[in-house]
Amino acid sequence: MPVTLVVGGQWGDEGKAKIIDHLARRSDYVVRFQGGANAGHTVVVDGNRFAFHLVPSGILYPNVRCILGGGMVVDPLALVEEINGIRARGIDVSGRIFVSSQAHVVLPYHQLLDRGSEEMKRGNRIGTTQKGIAPAYADKMSREGIRMSDFALKPSDFENLLRGKISAKNRLLKSIGVGPLSPGKVVADFLAARKVLLPMITDTRILLWDALDEGRTILCEGAQGTLLDIDHGTYPFVTSSSASAGGAATGTGLPPGTLRRVVGIFKAYCTRVGNGPFPTEDVGEVGERLRRIGSEFGTTTGRPRRCGWFDAVAARTAVRLNGVTEIALTKLDVLDSFERIKVCTAYRMGGKTFHHFPADWESLRRCTPVYEEFPGWKMPAAGRDAAALPEGALAYIRSLERLVGCRVTLVSVGPERGAILRLPAVSPRERKPGPKAAVRD
Ligand code: GDP
Ligand code: IMO
Ligand code: MG
Repeated sequence: MPVTLVVGGQWGDEGKAKIIDHLARRSDYVVRFQGGANAGHTVVVDGNRFAFHLVPSGILYPNVRCILGGGMVVDPLALVEEINGIRARGIDVSGRIFVSSQAHVVLPYHQLLDRGSEEMKRGNRIGTTQKGIAPAYADKMSREGIRMSDFALKPSDFENLLRGKISAKNRLLKSIGVGPLSPGKVVADFLAARKVLLPMITDTRILLWDALDEGRTILCEGAQGTLLDIDHGTYPFVTSSSASAGGAATGTGLPPGTLRRVVGIFKAYCTRVGNGPFPTEDVGEVGERLRRIGSEFGTTTGRPRRCGWFDAVAARTAVRLNGVTEIALTKLDVLDSFERIKVCTAYRMGGKTFHHFPADWESLRRCTPVYEEFPGWKMPAAGRDAAALPEGALAYIRSLERLVGCRVTLVSVGPERGAILRLPAVSPRERKPGPKAAVRD
């Protein structure tokens, strides 16, 4: 049974959780492999909105086991709060949440450092979520981090470990004007969190390897998106983890060869929250309209998302980089009322045309998009079956497939769980003789 990997194909917030929730109904395990509480993953069921930050989005199904993988950075206090919030809404999570002993711990000083480093950058801020993500990964890489396995220390040893780390960091916090941190409260909070989390901490690789041996269905849940990936995104305007497919193997311990089905999640247009280059950003009426209709405000920070047309150059790069085997296209309904819809098919830079997303953001900043225009369908895409999607909507999807080089199998047409269509490789209508039948496949 191949593992299914779900990755964001753009700058995050593509609607990954909606698709995870859809795929999780037939899964045994859902595993997050990177990032931390910077993620905001929304699932809407019967009008009830759930926003997950650390807990995998499969938790709403009583039989799904959820793993926080070793590639994550976990804020234990935020995790306990999130678990309590989920429980309070009547979801039984007992015995279903597992936290990798290899995952790194986000401490309050990481959040202070995140804030301090952003303040120092002034005009050049990344616009982080201030959840302490970059400082926690920096400590991991410099081998100064605390891991979830340290929660298994005797309470007195755990306390000494925390006090030692805090006193070392306090010098730095003071030097950038965001400290010092009083160790007493941190220790008390962490000892309380330890009690809740200790039973959940384990070597989750073994769980996953056993699950593979037993032929169980495993779903890997990416956070953020390809263009925010630390290596492949618009560095330095990125997050600090491997948000693209490559991160799933190291972040879970699953052998790379098992990750054979890669579902790339793409919005039918583009958004970005935080700073950094965004070639198709529309700061005028179109951007405003996409933001309003698509309710484009951050799930974690509430910030308005920057909006613009679909960028097929960036998407094609994401498809190739992640080895996307199928696309789930989300928020198609947001385009329902547009008269004309544009797609960026190439970039112009220095009098030349490019079909690849540049690897450095300085070049990207100088790119101007080349657009192709499509007629809008001007009717609701929602509530129809795939065969009855408005003709213009289907034509738009087929054009995106052609432009990015991958087929679309799922189309999401609303935030609710049920607002999703499975698209046949070639729809019945397209099978009829006629010019469209020859478009692709
Ligand atoms: P994620 O971080 O990729 O999981 O995405 P977010 O949850 O941050 O943002 C996606 C937002 O769009 C959420 O508010 C979802 O409820 C909503 N959403 C997801 N799919 C659709 C869709 O097809 N149509 C509409 N209108 N909203 C959607
Ligand atoms: P999900 O999983 C959208 C952005 C931040 C900032 C940059 C670095 O919901 O798609 P960080 O706090 O990670 O150091 O911030 O990355 N960012 C996201 N943007 N969706 C997310 O997660 C994001 N997580 C981080 O806005 O630009
Ligand atoms: Mg989000």
